[in-house]
Amino acid sequence: MAKDFDLMEDSNRSANPTIHEVSDPARRIFVRGTLASAATALFGGGLLAGCASTGGTQAASLGRGIGFASVPMRDVDEVLVPPGYTARVLYRWGDPVGIAGKMPAFKTDGSNTAEEQALQAGMHHDGLAYFPLDGSRRGLLAVNHEYTDDGLLHPDGMKTWNAEKVRKSQAAHGVSVIEVEATPNGWRQVLPSKYARRITATTPMLIGGPAAGHALMKTAADPTGTRVLGTLNNCAHGETPWGTYLTCEENFINYFHGPDNPDAHGKRWGLKKGGTGYRWHEFDERFDATRHPNEPNRFGWVVEIDPMDPTMTPIKRTALGRAAHEGATVALTDDGRAVVYMGEDARFEYIYKFVSRDRVKPGGFAANRDLLDHGTLYVARFHADGTGEWLPLVHGQGPLTAANGFADQGEVVIKARQASDALGATKMDRPEWTAVDPLTKEVYCTLTNNSNRGRDKSPGVDAANPRANNTMGHIIRWKENGDLDATRFTWSHFVLAGDPSLPRAEAKGNIRGDIFGSPDGLWVDPRGVLWIQTDVSTSTLGKGDYVNLPNNQMLACDPTKGEIRRFLVGPRGCEVTGVVMTPDLRTMFVNIQHPGESPSERSDPDAPTKYSRWPDGGRPRSATIVITRNDGGVIGL
Ligand code: FEO
Ligand code: CA
Ligand code: CA
Repeated sequence: MAKDFDLMEDSNRSANPTIHEVSDPARRIFVRGTLASAATALFGGGLLAGCASTGGTQAASLGRGIGFASVPMRDVDEVLVPPGYTARVLYRWGDPVGIAGKMPAFKTDGSNTAEEQALQAGMHHDGLAYFPLDGSRRGLLAVNHEYTDDGLLHPDGMKTWNAEKVRKSQAAHGVSVIEVEATPNGWRQVLPSKYARRITATTPMLIGGPAAGHALMKTAADPTGTRVLGTLNNCAHGETPWGTYLTCEENFINYFHGPDNPDAHGKRWGLKKGGTGYRWHEFDERFDATRHPNEPNRFGWVVEIDPMDPTMTPIKRTALGRAAHEGATVALTDDGRAVVYMGEDARFEYIYKFVSRDRVKPGGFAANRDLLDHGTLYVARFHADGTGEWLPLVHGQGPLTAANGFADQGEVVIKARQASDALGATKMDRPEWTAVDPLTKEVYCTLTNNSNRGRDKSPGVDAANPRANNTMGHIIRWKENGDLDATRFTWSHFVLAGDPSLPRAEAKGNIRGDIFGSPDGLWVDPRGVLWIQTDVSTSTLGKGDYVNLPNNQMLACDPTKGEIRRFLVGPRGCEVTGVVMTPDLRTMFVNIQHPGESPSERSDPDAPTKYSRWPDGGRPRSATIVITRNDGGVIGL
């Protein structure tokens, strides 16, 4: 999600100390490891049907090298890829998801009804994953639809406001599951498909894990505290080795109307009067937290979906903690337990890790249905000496007791921010995506930016977040001391983003290669290439520290060499977010989010094409694109 700095949440007023030593990032030489991929070691024979990482060993043998020519940064209203590559549009906002007999066409003036929108691609595509049906030729894509630009969603934007518009906005959130296949003429969406599904802000869901049935989860509509309608602000994602998709609820608090003076819990989660202007509460009272104070507690979770079963009821996995969840990256310990890395994207929030109690079993979702309901949640503390530790969010341990306001484990996970404050976790510069290198098990996290670092009464710089007014962001990297379930780690800065031509010392960064700022999407592909996507807010693109960066982009890096090379430039006003490849690494899917977004993040309905006409020459539409090499070769090599 692009965020204007003034609109962005900054709710951490906790007194847990920060580490005020400014360190020289170059000092931290990373200890390289040689651990084999646990997934490959444990399940190398394709035991886990549907796992997109099957074939990882083969991919690794291709090596990490990158061979494409760098794409120059330009202010364009199209997708630029290197010579020898082609990018095509596959699935745009408003395209039918593909349910037989229910495939309404997109109306270019935004006049599709709410009912039609619930059968079409939502707005603002973000994280995505590919689930093979026939290897690298046919599969399912699960695609997040993060939020809506209601200036663009309706013919007259928000000039009028009614229940139908609220329903349409809710229907444009959530997830799409679509079927895609390679044909001699390129990739296409399979229409109709028995797998096609839209999950929206009103789809019935279950609540699993320690918060299920908790008093803080009960509402008038759900006195059991175990069922909830919908998911929203679906930002990044994860995919599990047992073939399910994880969608993450990021800036959920923006949808809730709070009281004039929220209580301490509401304040810590950024609840405020009116939310940030979605205006759902005016026609859907469950988003009025003054009347339904527990409803916000039912959002901010990681949601598990089986893409192979369109009748499956999605499950909110509360054992993974509540947060403004960016993504949920899953890896395996050597003995086959799931480890989930998660960033919370808000200023001065935290990085989390969950380790499952049980081992992953062969047999797909049916055999692992409760796996994410049991385990230990940790939050990261980065020490100034380049070591770090994972602090357990376990009720009864340390300060997480009833005397301190945590009655049970349910309350610990619902109030994960407060629990992390009490434990003394490190306040980070907006943790976005995490990625695990399948070859070495090094873990990366993008810290997109934080212009409030060091400002006024905000926390100052520390070793892990070493720049005041951190407009450009950085990528941090760590290696667990042992297997992925270790409680200690060693960390370094992989790169400080920036532009060496800038006059401001703290915006120069230390990139070797092409310049970028505001890293967000992040993925290490099966052969070990690190892909970095950027989300510079539209109010900032081309200005100030971003004077040489008019558009968002995607870059690639061989992390053993460190050179970063630009692979893609996105259309005007878009964010580039979400990347995955088919197992043969010859097809890449990328999401282009909010092309033509206005600096206010809400389009003028009288001029919907003011900033962009991508991809069709009319109203701009977020879209999944498909990138192939013209010679059919491995992407990036
Ligand atoms: Fe939805 Fe933190 O980006
Ligand atoms: Ca972002
Ligand atoms: Ca993001």
